[in-house]
Amino acid sequence: MKLSCIILAAGEGKRMKSERAKVAHTLAGKPLIRYVLDVARALEPEKIVMVVGHDAENVKTLAGEGVEFVTQAEQFGTGHAVLQTKQIFEGYDGDLLILSGDVPLIAQETLRRLMETHRGSGAVCTLLTAVLKDPSGYGRVIRRVTGKPHKIVEERDASLFEKAVEEINSGIYLFKADQLFQVIDKLSAQNKQLEFYLTDMVSILSGEAKIVEAVQVEDPNEVLGVNSREDLAKLERIVQQRIQRAHMLNGVTIIDPLNTYIEASVQIGRDTIIYPFTVVEGEVRIGINCRIGPFSHIRGNTVLEEKAEVGNFVEIKSSTIGRGTKAKHLSYLGDTTIGMETNIGAGTITANYDGVKKNKTVIGDHAFIGSGTTLVAPVTVGNGAVTGAGAVVLKGRDVPDGAVVVGIPAVPLKRKKSSKAVGTERGRMQS
Ligand code: UD1
Ligand code: CA
Repeated sequence: MKLSCIILAAGEGKRMKSERAKVAHTLAGKPLIRYVLDVARALEPEKIVMVVGHDAENVKTLAGEGVEFVTQAEQFGTGHAVLQTKQIFEGYDGDLLILSGDVPLIAQETLRRLMETHRGSGAVCTLLTAVLKDPSGYGRVIRRVTGKPHKIVEERDASLFEKAVEEINSGIYLFKADQLFQVIDKLSAQNKQLEFYLTDMVSILSGEAKIVEAVQVEDPNEVLGVNSREDLAKLERIVQQRIQRAHMLNGVTIIDPLNTYIEASVQIGRDTIIYPFTVVEGEVRIGINCRIGPFSHIRGNTVLEEKAEVGNFVEIKSSTIGRGTKAKHLSYLGDTTIGMETNIGAGTITANYDGVKKNKTVIGDHAFIGSGTTLVAPVTVGNGAVTGAGAVVLKGRDVPDGAVVVGIPAVPLKRKKSSKAVGTERGRMQS
């Protein structure tokens, strides 16, 4: 049986009070629309058609390749949005899965179950529903005495009796495409919002004695919609739980999950420990046996090799931290590559931005960067090199392997009595 997919993403999301389209907002760093697209793609439909309108160019960019876009210039409701795809599906007689761009957590398995029931029952339309303790804000599913769905009533249009119904419409449906488009013109906008509701297809079809089925989700979290910033925060919590659980199952210790934020794109090796109040965002790969936090901020394009240690108030961006290297207190490391077993003293700052562009810092293996060192990029500090506490290493003034530099601007240390200097210097700077 053929399958195609429509994703509704034209709405403004008034309740978000945002310049951006609602579906461009993110959960764990990933736009809502990408969650929906990922699950749609996993089902390998013939076509994915996305209805865009508000903030359309941005939404299209976020969606990327392999999607056909239809513009709904003015948003007259979900039924009107689907109507915009009628031409595209002219002559198509397969199934049509309709997904909402603002219902991001739906699982592939649930959609497969929806397809099975739909195909097994020969239904023209199968709804995905959920029973929620607090159904407010959602359309309610009203069933006939036979148990079959009879209609969906939006909260605004619902009677007190209907509002008491806890079974809600998820905004996800399967239709037989030809039958949907045969009757979609019958939708009217006679409701509180004066919109063409796709949900009215249920009463239209069931009124014509067509088979309408419903499948209930097992995990109601999957069908929670994002209409407000409050909903966004609620879903973020669920997503964080899922992400962190997956890391914990892989052998990562997260001491306080409620006070940890890890984005979807992060990889973490086993036996790494994450202390509280840590934020890890963007493309980040953390190796095995690392210690991160408390209060660490690790940003995109960063790799921490095994046994690296990052401590409190350390921010790292676009950097590679080598095996066993430690940056434990009060540092900013940006666009920096550090070798192995190097110590980054408290308060070390890489001055990577010269007001025009970002410049790179390279620090070798077994180096010792003294507390409060500022490294003005571009600059290289060699293997086994040492900077004194408070040193300012100017740009281009590379520190050779094994050298010791001190002061502002940093210059090679004059050694009074040969070998002792390094030892003394290290002794003073130990963190
Ligand atoms: C909708 C359903 C409701 C269901 C809920 C589930 C209708 C009338 N109501 O309500 O029964 O419980 O979803 O989350 O369908 N959109 C367009 N064009 C439009 C209007 C909306 O593309 O003209 C898109 C939105 O961008 C959004 C989706 O359709 O992604 C749902 O629209 P929204 O306004 O959020 O509907 P709800 O009020 O949540
Ligand atoms: Ca919604």
